[in-house]
Amino acid sequence: MNVWLFGYGSLIWRPDIDYIERSVARVHGWARRFWQGSHDHRGLPDKPGRVVTLVAQPGAVCDGMAYLVSQRTAARTFEALDHREKNGYQRHEVRLELPAQRHEPGIVYIAPVDNFAYLGPAPLEDMARQIHESAGPSGSNRDYLLELAAVLRDMDAEDEHVYELEAAVRRLS
Ligand code: SIN
Repeated sequence: MNVWLFGYGSLIWRPDIDYIERSVARVHGWARRFWQGSHDHRGLPDKPGRVVTLVAQPGAVCDGMAYLVSQRTAARTFEALDHREKNGYQRHEVRLELPAQRHEPGIVYIAPVDNFAYLGPAPLEDMARQIHESAGPSGSNRDYLLELAAVLRDMDAEDEHVYELEAAVRRLS
């Protein structure tokens, strides 16, 4: 069976995977939050950055990008993604809403509240400062946030949390 993967963070603008089909998609009951620590991509072990995870929240929606991965390449694709998302993320099954009222089961990487790198909420200005000051092997934490905000805007996606954080980080530079 081919498998749908849902991306809501860097997987929107840099999937780096082979796929058959791509579509904007939405998940219900989940909110995107910059509450996950990054020690390996946008921060360092002794100076973690902040990246997104999904937090269960009744009534919330999260817009992202869905990729249809072929059965033929699924095993190696998910092995590579497990490595990329190794800093606390786990695969979850979700129900994806695609355009034209199409619904499909999908896989999403979520960093749960009990993972070792979870940071949780903090005041907006504190999160903005941490993002402004962090960088890791994949680049600056600031670019991660700005790329995410830009691609969400291109998709006409609502996300107050991301846009407020973007504005707060821009005020720091
Ligand atoms: C995702 O993009 O779906 C997971 C979080 C990330 O890698 O930024």
